[in-house]
Amino acid sequence: MSVRKPYAVWDAPTRAFHWINLLCVLLLVALGTTILNGKSLGISNDGKVLLKTLHVWVGYAFILNLLVRIGWAFAGNHYARWAQWLPLGRSFAAQWRQWRASRGTAALEFAGHTPPGRIAIGAMLLLMISQSTTGLLLAGTDLYYPPFGSWIAEWIAAPGVDPATLVPYQPDLVDAAAVSEMRAMRKPYAQFHVWGFYALLAAVAVHLAGVIWAERRHGSALVSAMITGRKWLASDPVDPKP
Ligand code: HEM
Repeated sequence: MSVRKPYAVWDAPTRAFHWINLLCVLLLVALGTTILNGKSLGISNDGKVLLKTLHVWVGYAFILNLLVRIGWAFAGNHYARWAQWLPLGRSFAAQWRQWRASRGTAALEFAGHTPPGRIAIGAMLLLMISQSTTGLLLAGTDLYYPPFGSWIAEWIAAPGVDPATLVPYQPDLVDAAAVSEMRAMRKPYAQFHVWGFYALLAAVAVHLAGVIWAERRHGSALVSAMITGRKWLASDPVDPKP
């Protein structure tokens, strides 16, 4: 039986990001699914505004956490940085070839993410950035929330109405023609937000399947490593700290 050695891999900010992100995504998916099915669930306009408001506040926390993690990719430990996090850097192509050649055996161990893991993270990161940008625009069009809300309110406020006093779902405060222009502008972003939701669910499923598969193959305590920071490896990793 091989003796396993602990490797300090994930630093505290990386672990905090991961679990805060998971919590935010779960809440965003639950609230988003309810908003998406609002009609068939018979939710009132007030109920919709409440759900959207909660979704947007969780969204702000999600974006802030994401921005901190992006900053940490410049400042964190070796495994938190861009070249180990995403499919980037000179080492990626070589590691990808090594990983493919070793498939089916437990011989090749990574301290950081495996090459397919980095591809899944890259896809999730792009989708989370896309959900954040489209979500911020929708927060402006639907609730007049920052950063685009005051611009939208100025655009659609009825003549003589102070844009700062607009309230969602109050048609008498807005100019009908401007609202239909604004809704035409909003439509593709709303559509993209829904596609992004489905794509993100698919990417998360791939990420989870990859974690289960890698854990069964290597048994390096992947999930608890995101709590303790340490992985337990049976051989020297291909990607040691320089
Ligand atoms: C993991 C990230 C996210 C997921 C999975 C997600 C999912 C969803 C879903 C499924 C809907 C319902 C779409 C519809 O009914 O047309 C929705 C609506 C909405 N989302 Fe998100 N969202 C995410 C992030 C965000 C963020 C970061 C914000 C803003 C800060 C945001 C703001 C909104 C708004 C304002 C709506 C209402 C728009 C509407 O009713 O069409 N979302 N979201």
